[in-house]
Amino acid sequence: MIICRSIPELRKFVDDWRRQGLRIGLVPTMGYLHEGHLSLVDRIKPHSDRVIVSIFVNPAQFGQEEDLDRYPRDFERDEKLIAHRGADAIFYPDTEEMYPEGFRTFVQVEGLSDVLCGRSRPTHFRGVTTVVAKLFLISRCDVAAFGQKDYQQALIIQRMAKDLDFEIEIIICPIVREADGLALSSRNDYLSLDERAKAVCLYRALTGAQELFLSGERNAERLQNEMKRTLNSTPGVSVDYLEVVDALTLQPMERIDRRTLLAGAIRLGKTRLIDNIIIEP
Ligand code: PAJ
Repeated sequence: MIICRSIPELRKFVDDWRRQGLRIGLVPTMGYLHEGHLSLVDRIKPHSDRVIVSIFVNPAQFGQEEDLDRYPRDFERDEKLIAHRGADAIFYPDTEEMYPEGFRTFVQVEGLSDVLCGRSRPTHFRGVTTVVAKLFLISRCDVAAFGQKDYQQALIIQRMAKDLDFEIEIIICPIVREADGLALSSRNDYLSLDERAKAVCLYRALTGAQELFLSGERNAERLQNEMKRTLNSTPGVSVDYLEVVDALTLQPMERIDRRTLLAGAIRLGKTRLIDNIIIEP
């Protein structure tokens, strides 16, 4: 497996692969990999001849008060996991490589970036789209995989790829969960034992609303109230948002008459967790 720390180094391999007519797949990550990340490698493989996994903790998507410095990192472990999963290359640049002195250009997708997670993290998605656009151009990929875990992120990236004519197929992969339903996340490692036990309440709130929907409820406000009820009954959890929105526009809904996203973000101590479920009449 190839490990590239610089852009020109990766470009050499990529140019060679493209000359051979090979299809390139990209899985962008911030490392500290778990089964959720690795499932993206599995899913992209049938769509590509070469798979690149990028590992870069992207400062541009962290707010001032956020966890950039303490974000977990373990490259040696990641490298083994990726090799075992059969990817062909790791792109592992440092901040200087991605944002050299004088860097001034940002990519922003309007309308989708200021709702849900964007409300409490106003510069987050601008950082995500900027780094992902760079990764698309550096890797010259034909296909890229993202997780539904970060549904809003995946939707924004799909929009960006379309609007900027990237001609890259975006694959959105299912959420990988722990046995109790908690969505896998690198940030789950921050949780104390007590917080870990409580963390599943977000998934329970989402599935509670989903059950109500499956039993015939079509009123969005009632689904939202059901989610709030579940979370308010768990002490120590503060709700960032719990929303019922149109899965394409991310705008609030009144009646569930089309594809709908149930999405939530909570804080447990210093840790912020997100999750979502899609429902469809
Ligand atoms: P990161 O949080 O490391 O996630 C990398 C990819 O793994 C994302 O597409 C994310 O949705 C997916 N993922 C995370 N947990 C998952 C789970 N439990 N099941 C399925 N997929 C999961 O998301 C980012 O990094 C960054 O914002 C990035 C896109 C790399 C840009 O910096």
